[in-house]
Amino acid sequence: MAQSHLSRRAVLGRGALGILAVACGSGRLSRIWSAEPENGDLIARQATPYNAEPPLAKLVENWMTPVNSFFVRSHGTVPAIDPKQFTLKVEGLVDKPLSISLAELIERFPAASTTATLTCAGNRRSEFAAIKKVSGVQWEAGAIGNAEWLGVRLVDLLKHVGVKAGAKHVWFDGSDVITEKNETFSFGGSIPIEKSLVTTATGATLLATQMNGQALTAAHGFPLRTVVPGFIGARSVKWLNKITVSDRPSPNHFVADVYKLVPEENAELIAKTSPIYEFMLNSAVCLPASGANLSGDRVTVKGFALTNGATGRSIKLVEVSADGGQTWVPAKVTSPVRDFCWVLWSVDVPLTSKTDSLIVRATDSSGEIQPQVSPWNYKGYQFNGWHKISVKRA
Ligand code: MTE
Repeated sequence: MAQSHLSRRAVLGRGALGILAVACGSGRLSRIWSAEPENGDLIARQATPYNAEPPLAKLVENWMTPVNSFFVRSHGTVPAIDPKQFTLKVEGLVDKPLSISLAELIERFPAASTTATLTCAGNRRSEFAAIKKVSGVQWEAGAIGNAEWLGVRLVDLLKHVGVKAGAKHVWFDGSDVITEKNETFSFGGSIPIEKSLVTTATGATLLATQMNGQALTAAHGFPLRTVVPGFIGARSVKWLNKITVSDRPSPNHFVADVYKLVPEENAELIAKTSPIYEFMLNSAVCLPASGANLSGDRVTVKGFALTNGATGRSIKLVEVSADGGQTWVPAKVTSPVRDFCWVLWSVDVPLTSKTDSLIVRATDSSGEIQPQVSPWNYKGYQFNGWHKISVKRA
């Protein structure tokens, strides 16, 4: 499919909370943002900052998740950015530091797209409660979605500015303001330089301006965000305004302190633990809904499965059990299969008179199988135990 950026006027005049820039006769933009939240089909898990996920049934309607069914995870305010004033800075270990407007960015670099699943590291956090309740947004399994992103490839921008010897990491800074424990800071991410330099269509890290053929909405990072295929959502920084090439990971709070897998709150341990990059092998039952009353001898079960985000991994097997994990029925993949994207699956399972749950587990092409119980970490990240929903027999 031919790729093109939205017209300059469309990108500069669209997006954001509701509607936006109204062009005057002279072509000047008279109004920038309205402030309506984009709820779409989402269930709010937190009102301020707005964090929301779709009912799971929505996720299996389309392999490409529509924007209004796509989860929103924001740590702070949604910034109101005037795309005409917007500039992206590129600095650090580069030969030619750069400050570039949005219009120049999309005019100077070729349009590139990638389809990638974004998932929050905190997805399924609420299930840790079975072990011990973890604080934070109580996500069920819907903080995940798959979309086609369009923008420019980070590698093209980095080649343009020239990366100096010694560069090992690329930092991303967002424009949002976050207040936690009386401290105020912005959101940042960081990825190893190798991930920034990938050139394949499926693996390329993007500076995205569009999601599913439309300008990014404000909640999803208008006017510019990173999309890092295979990495946890936290590395796909929204409202991106600065890229820094460095010899070390970003010191930003969300790289240095948060989004790490540690068993307890221990500063020394946190400091020496690497940030999470790739997501984890996972799957979930999306249909029927938890608590459903099932009649008859069989039920059609649908859901999603996702690899751990490593290049070249794919889902080899998805199995569903209606008898508490004693026997398993293989599911059929019903969606396209692509690197860094979830698969959707479906299976007809026989029920017994005693069926009181439906359980799913996935196995990937390396032979890795989802653990029955997710490993513990005190922040509640990367829950990937077998997904089990309760059902009743009618
Ligand atoms: N970028 C900024 N600037 N601020 C944020 O709070 N949240 C991150 C990431 N990028 C965040 C951000 C997290 S934790 C996730 S999971 C994804 O954005 C969610 O992207 P979405 O809201 O478009 O689904």
